[in-house]
Amino acid sequence: MARSLTTYLDDLRDSRVWRSIFRSGPGQSNLHRALVVQSNVFLHLFSVKARKRVLDFSVTWYLGALTFGAFLILVITGVLLMLYYHPSVPLAYSDMKDLEFVVSSGVFLRNLHRWSAHAMVLLVFAHLAKVFYRGAYRPPREFNWVIGVVLLLLTLFLSYTGYLLPWDQLAFWAVTVGSNIASAVPLLGHHIRFLMLGGNLVNANALLRFYVLHCMILPLAAILFIAIHFWRIRKDGGLYAGAPTTTAEKEAER
Ligand code: HEM
Repeated sequence: MARSLTTYLDDLRDSRVWRSIFRSGPGQSNLHRALVVQSNVFLHLFSVKARKRVLDFSVTWYLGALTFGAFLILVITGVLLMLYYHPSVPLAYSDMKDLEFVVSSGVFLRNLHRWSAHAMVLLVFAHLAKVFYRGAYRPPREFNWVIGVVLLLLTLFLSYTGYLLPWDQLAFWAVTVGSNIASAVPLLGHHIRFLMLGGNLVNANALLRFYVLHCMILPLAAILFIAIHFWRIRKDGGLYAGAPTTTAEKEAER
């Protein structure tokens, strides 16, 4: 008799190799499933149980999950783009041309990265609006709202720093205008501009700074804050599913 895929998966999860890595075998009961979630470094960020209603599409429109999806695509395509890109003035623009005319699927890779970046900016604003509209920013979730604001800023900074990397006219003048706007900040403006560009001009130093910010510092900060954001949902009693009705729900909201 043909064995189902579930049986194969159960056998795999019951094997010695699997248990040596994940410790627990297939979930036998709700309590055991809770243990499986709690003892996994990635899964323990999430709640072990959720109210059924919060899984409805109408509650979140899955906008947070879609924003996270766009971020994952950006990380994967970004790492692949790093294999073809040199952050130096003589090479940056020609690397872009090589992606277009020499590297196989280079245009696809670059456009996937670009469109996912646009999508992430749109999705993060839509997610913020949806959270606000259903009042999920109220206590006890106010700290997660603040973490969300940090994530919004990181998303915008990621977009801005990525803009300079093609080193074309659009990039050069956009960053010239952007850094001049930053220099209009009272008292500290010129220091901020100097810190951003690594000097007074948009040149090789600025390109290197934007590259390090775009490919290392900001993505790592985003990963850290996304992890806190997810963990915090669990600590705040799961996603907000509207005003609590039962005594147990009122207790959990407190
Ligand atoms: C990189 C950006 C972000 C990612 C990947 C992200 C991801 C998520 C996910 C997956 C959820 C759970 C499901 C959902 O509500 O769709 C969530 C919930 C939440 N997010 Fe975000 N988020 C981001 C930015 C933001 C921003 C900008 C805000 C607001 C300023 C925010 C505030 C919240 C709050 C308060 C919740 C809890 C909602 C509840 O308990 O029902 N997030 N986020």
